[in-house]
Amino acid sequence: MKMLQFVGMGFLLFSVGVSPACSQGEPPATPVSSQSSAAVPADLQPGEAKFTANCSACHGAGGLGTKQGPPLVHKIYEPNHHGDAAFQRAAANGVKAHHWEFGNMPKIDGVTPEDVDQIIKYVRWLQHQAGVF
Ligand code: HEC
Repeated sequence: MKMLQFVGMGFLLFSVGVSPACSQGEPPATPVSSQSSAAVPADLQPGEAKFTANCSACHGAGGLGTKQGPPLVHKIYEPNHHGDAAFQRAAANGVKAHHWEFGNMPKIDGVTPEDVDQIIKYVRWLQHQAGVF
């Protein structure tokens, strides 16, 4: 009997602990869709503009991907897996397709390493907003 009560309590706690996130309509912790509502901080807006001009044709508005390229707001592009150097390399040399089926990324002529630095800050912010890291 004691054991049954214990199990019952555990179940109750479990369901109480889990249900609010579903019932209150709060955005879950990793929603890719909620990030667009957050205002881009002023110091990241130059990076946003450069991302939009040079990267979003393939990587999508807000880094969410398109038919031409993968989302950068994605676990595999978090800082530990694709550090800032990978972004600099991608822009300077292009990328041979290896993670996806989109084909190669061409090198991006319109950006300097300083531009890419700003783009990286913006992309890291997007990733962080989306709960990627
Ligand atoms: C013409 C389309 C296109 C444009 C423009 C583009 N990319 Fe890419 N990018 C791709 C594709 C496709 C891949 C995925 C290659 C793979 O791994 O299969 C990719 C991969 C990457 C990667 C991962 C590199 C790696 O080491 O795996 C980074 C970082 C990246 N892009 C950053 C950028 C940045 C920053 C810009 C703008 C300066 C940009 N891309 C512009 C198509 C594009």
